[in-house]
Amino acid sequence: MEFTTIKGFRDVLPGEVETWQFLEATARRVFRVFGFREIKTPLLERTDLFSRGIGEETDIVSKEMYSLKDSKGRGMTLRPEATASVVRAYVEHRLFEAQAVQKLFLVGPMFRHERPQKGRFRQFHQYNAELYGDAGPGSDADILLMARMFFEEAGVEGLSLRLNSLGCPVCRPGFRALLKDYLATRGQGLCEVCRRRTETNPLRVFDCKLDPCRAVMGDAPSVLDSLCEACLRHLDGLREALDRLQVPYTMDHRLVRGLDYYNRTTFEIQTDRLGAQNAVAGGGRYDGLVALLGGPETPAVGFAVGVERVVALLEGQGRPPAKGPDLFVAALGHEAERACLDVIQALRKAGLCVERDYGARGLKAQLKRADRLGAEKVLIVGDGELVSKRALLRDMRTKGQEEIPFGDPAHILGRLRGC
Ligand code: HAM
Repeated sequence: MEFTTIKGFRDVLPGEVETWQFLEATARRVFRVFGFREIKTPLLERTDLFSRGIGEETDIVSKEMYSLKDSKGRGMTLRPEATASVVRAYVEHRLFEAQAVQKLFLVGPMFRHERPQKGRFRQFHQYNAELYGDAGPGSDADILLMARMFFEEAGVEGLSLRLNSLGCPVCRPGFRALLKDYLATRGQGLCEVCRRRTETNPLRVFDCKLDPCRAVMGDAPSVLDSLCEACLRHLDGLREALDRLQVPYTMDHRLVRGLDYYNRTTFEIQTDRLGAQNAVAGGGRYDGLVALLGGPETPAVGFAVGVERVVALLEGQGRPPAKGPDLFVAALGHEAERACLDVIQALRKAGLCVERDYGARGLKAQLKRADRLGAEKVLIVGDGELVSKRALLRDMRTKGQEEIPFGDPAHILGRLRGC
């Protein structure tokens, strides 16, 4: 029997993993300067948390969750996203009591049973940032600026920001009714799912990727024309902040996002380089979710970056080759091998990446391995060198060699660091 990864799940091998490490370090640095602190939540949560939090009519809840029952028949689900989980933790641990404004981030895998394709996996990873306790457009702006800084510092090119407002409980019902009327007259061409959504959740129809549904929605009314005074003021406040900092964006009234908890601001950061899966990050405001999941009325805004898609973009831009070891120690003969152990250990303790050969092979084979590893320098130590207490330091780029004292790791360290 041959074992392979499950469809939609993937290994990240050395070579690509360095890009992951770079991105995560960048995210952590940027999130920290905006005052966000890390939270970790379990991968498995009660199914109701997601069906209630994300919405029964969404694709995620209706068909994409990895759910199971435990031995007592309770429904559990591998998290398909992190926002509901972070809200659960925020309420459960009463984090609202500690700080009026809480800023949290979470790094980790999510699970959705979608049809795998380029940029779409069944296990994928996100960096989530969630801000609780501020209702004004200033926190939306901070979230967007933080997302932008992350992509800038990561060096990802060719991105654009799309922005929308979905209104609030005051103005959304009016828009819903308007959209329902529109769909009642124009909705004959809709797919079966969207025809049902027309009744249950007409805004979801904007989300459908099928051509006939998109054609119908091309002439649909715009939510932006139905916003109440307060929602308009909020949107204007956000746009003003973005303009002030010269952040380019496009308004897109069709951007409803795939989760039901949003109100007012929604946004996506998109690329034109990944085909259909063009969103590298998405988020928005979700002022009702904390109360919906049992907490006090708490405004909230956040976003998530899709790590696999950002990795793919960076790899497409050409990644600098991974750095090889600082030193390869080629010991020739049993005595030399033993004598090198101390030196190797001391250099590693000093923070150098030192490789060696385990096979007691000849010099040619060892130099070949050092070359394949991309080692910058090779220290050649033979039994004869042990007697003279000197060794050869070879520069793998220039192929030049020099004799240096062997046995004093501090001296070797000094030579490798060029002092
Ligand atoms: P989302 O749009 O479902 O939002 O996911 C955010 C990002 O995760 C997407 O823009 C995409 O880059 C990535 N992503 C989603 N599904 C997949 C997949 N199957 N394979 C690869 N990447 C994927 C959320 O999850 C919200 N919780 C974001 C949020 C946080 N809103 C407020 N706070």
